[in-house]
Amino acid sequence: MTTPPKSDPRLLFLAGSVRQNSFNKRLARLGAAISEANNIPSTFVDLADYPMPIYDGDVEAESGPPENARKLKNLMRAHTGIFIASPEYNAAFSPLLKNTIDWVSHTRDAGEAPLEVFRTRVFALGSASNGGLGGLRGLSMLRLVFELGLGALVLPDQFALPRAADAYDEHGHLKNKDQQEQLKTVIQKLARAARVLHG
Ligand SMILES: Cc1cc2nc3c(=O)[nH]c(=O)nc-3n(C[C@H](O)[C@H](O)[C@H](O)COP(=O)(O)O)c2cc1C
Repeated sequence: MTTPPKSDPRLLFLAGSVRQNSFNKRLARLGAAISEANNIPSTFVDLADYPMPIYDGDVEAESGPPENARKLKNLMRAHTGIFIASPEYNAAFSPLLKNTIDWVSHTRDAGEAPLEVFRTRVFALGSASNGGLGGLRGLSMLRLVFELGLGALVLPDQFALPRAADAYDEHGHLKNKDQQEQLKTVIQKLARAARVLHG
């Protein structure tokens, strides 16, 4: 997998849930579809295809990071902007997402600077929940981890989808056209920021 040519933004969409009918997976999938519809090449990735054990320093010392962490990091490297749709669990983000981030952050190839894949991509955050705040509270912590812990550039714009159980139509689009436009705006800004960073 190679780094995309400069000035050609390529967006990766992932969700911090492996649940089959995950509201956040649907958000990430929709984001990728909106991106493609706006001529921005994109990929949706399901973390269910990249299972990893719970981080354990002994496991890392014995056998290194899991192969799936390396594969996911390479997939991230092949994109210049990354959108993360994150469930809110008790006002934080999901343990699946934290575990995935932690393993990827400890996966380094020869000659690779620490946290390089986080420091050289631009990120945008979203969330979906059946609650009234749409998982918004969990994004504060996720932003903190990305900015402070990983040194990542995170767009100030983010998207939270409340009442998610009733928000999608049968095609996976948002019934509320204003919300769909808001999501599109975040994605377009992500693509623009990725172009500036890599162009
Ligand atoms: C342990 C736990 C804690 C949760 N805490 C919150 C919460 O603080 N706020 C919220 O809006 N939803 C909360 N939920 C509900 C999740 O938003 C809901 O399960 C959602 O469907 C998860 O995202 P997904 O659909 O992408 O899997 C919680 C769910 C679990 C399992």
